[in-house]
Amino acid sequence: MSDEALANLSTEERRFEPPAGLAAGANLTAASYGDAAADRLGFWAMQAERLSWDTRWEEVLDWSDPPFAKWFVGGRLNAAYNCVDRHVEAGAGDKVAFHWVGEPEGDTRDITYAQLMDEVCQAANALTELGIEAGDRVAIYMPMIPETVVAMLACARLGAPHTVVFGGFSADALASRVLDCGAKLIITADGGYRRGAPSALKPAVDEAVAKVEAEQSGLVENVLVVRRTGQDVAFDQNIDVWWHELVAGSSTEHTCESFDAEHPLYVMYTSGTTGKPKGILHTTGGYLVGAAYTHWGIFDLKPDTDVYWCTADVGWVTGHSYTVYGPLANQSTSVMYEGVPDAPHKGRWWEIIEKYKVSIFYTAPTAIRTFMKWGDEIPAKFDMSSLRVLGSVGEPINPEAYVWYRETIGGSRTPVVDTWWQTETGAIMISPLPGVTAAKPGSAMKAIPGIVADVVNDEGESVPDGSGGYLVIKEPWPSMLRTLWGDDERFKDTYWSRFKGMYFAGDGAKKDSDGDLWLLGRVDDVMNVSGHRLSTTEIESALVSHPKVAEAAVVGASDEMTGQSPVAFVILREAAGDGGTDIVKELRDHVAKEIGAIAKPSKIMIVAELPKTRSGKIMRRLLRDVAEHRDIGDVTTLADSTVMDLIGKGMATSSQD
Ligand code: WTA
Repeated sequence: MSDEALANLSTEERRFEPPAGLAAGANLTAASYGDAAADRLGFWAMQAERLSWDTRWEEVLDWSDPPFAKWFVGGRLNAAYNCVDRHVEAGAGDKVAFHWVGEPEGDTRDITYAQLMDEVCQAANALTELGIEAGDRVAIYMPMIPETVVAMLACARLGAPHTVVFGGFSADALASRVLDCGAKLIITADGGYRRGAPSALKPAVDEAVAKVEAEQSGLVENVLVVRRTGQDVAFDQNIDVWWHELVAGSSTEHTCESFDAEHPLYVMYTSGTTGKPKGILHTTGGYLVGAAYTHWGIFDLKPDTDVYWCTADVGWVTGHSYTVYGPLANQSTSVMYEGVPDAPHKGRWWEIIEKYKVSIFYTAPTAIRTFMKWGDEIPAKFDMSSLRVLGSVGEPINPEAYVWYRETIGGSRTPVVDTWWQTETGAIMISPLPGVTAAKPGSAMKAIPGIVADVVNDEGESVPDGSGGYLVIKEPWPSMLRTLWGDDERFKDTYWSRFKGMYFAGDGAKKDSDGDLWLLGRVDDVMNVSGHRLSTTEIESALVSHPKVAEAAVVGASDEMTGQSPVAFVILREAAGDGGTDIVKELRDHVAKEIGAIAKPSKIMIVAELPKTRSGKIMRRLLRDVAEHRDIGDVTTLADSTVMDLIGKGMATSSQD
């Protein structure tokens, strides 16, 4: 964020008070802050009572070996039982768990809790037949269809940690995740619908399986395939199994066992500052407590009357906590939508809100900005008076987008909760409370009850109000990551070594004169593109793996729609000459193949040199200046200051691909 933008934050005068009705019956109240501060562990124990425990915990938190936390020590539970069975046992079997909406119009399915239970039990029996036992890892590479949720819950039921890989990631990305966590089963589909056309998934799985086989023969024993689109797919009888044959034929009876609160629930890979994605490990008890508590409290969920919709794909952590685990643990009725927002028309989301009378809606700033651009007349065609709480997540929301969201989508009635959290935190950490906070557009406001956050300087000292620094979390919380899969050292280094005794989030933040928090984006080499985390190093490695590339530097440049976008500066190998006329397209496609389409650089500049310090470090700050069309700052530390002139000139003449 520029200095000018920083200064503007402090001058934001607008405040949005909670509506009186909401405030009067709110789940979390102003007193909740005091209750949590007075007895933090007691407060979390109270939140843990939302779940059904097979064996109650003996100790809320064991923090005797930081940063390795154990929450609800000695407690035992089953996550799938908590999300499904107990609601059926409580008489809510006929309640709709998901209004599922396929992308092709009219392709919908309402799934009750009783039906969900039958399907999860069938899938659990099917996985058992495929040899899956507690502790085995299962990769899930699926579109947004009900079977994806069923697959996750079946894994949870068996105590087999799942790793969901976003369907937009490439075969290579899938293979590296399968290898890293040692998954023996991959659950996928023939394909899914995107923008009206069936897109394929199974061929990417086949390619990934071949890659995994070459590295670790015999690791992947089976691929379980849901038939979604009916397109032709290659089928290897030795490992491929159809879901509709195996799962549908399995028994709907399945008795689940309980697992230790610290039993791994899932691994979610996310980009870090080095090339290799990190496997964030979440465990059963603490994670589910965090997801359930925040979903209930931050959205003010009233399970009997609300219809809730989070637009995130389950391939990301937001989909895990706020499409699957939180909402189901709280017995919510949710919408789940398969496709893109503009298929077949740009009002599709609003049409869905009108049809299902959605009352709580959770999405990302990048989507909000896109709708702003498409124009007010599109949402105006739909009746969205059912909405009462709106949420935002994934990146800082610009005050203008916040106000537009509140007014145009929320009819000026709805509070907007700007929720800050991360894959690592498992659940929302900083947010206004919809029934309490006089919210400022663009600010995530305060740590929620139970969470202790602060902004510190380079020395780890708390900064005074009105100053900026690094965001840290000062006390452990139940849904915190427990480690990085197979890499305790990297876990300690990445999050716990920068400031002693504090969790370092990697984000910059500012406290305004009231002490409210404004998130300023990443302080490391992680970029945020449309709310998705991408590592500059990972994209650089992908570029350098292309035979024509000698060296590459990638920076995240500000982008009006996507927040940031990757801009690459590439030096070609001598033998590649000028690379040929299609070199930019070739490199962009290569990045899509290595990582996924979301990682494609928006611009690629072929350059002769990169700006380096005398010690050989690439000066990304200068490249960012170039990418954002700013005057280039101080170049005195450059080994060769003429390099920047050349790059600057090239940038001015290069066009967006
Ligand atoms: C950013 C997504 C500002 C932040 C849940 C964080 C935000 C990263 C917000 C985590 C917000 C997320 N305001 N920035 N409300 N929410 N971020 O792991 O930089 O995909 O570190 O988790 O997104 O991204 P992740």
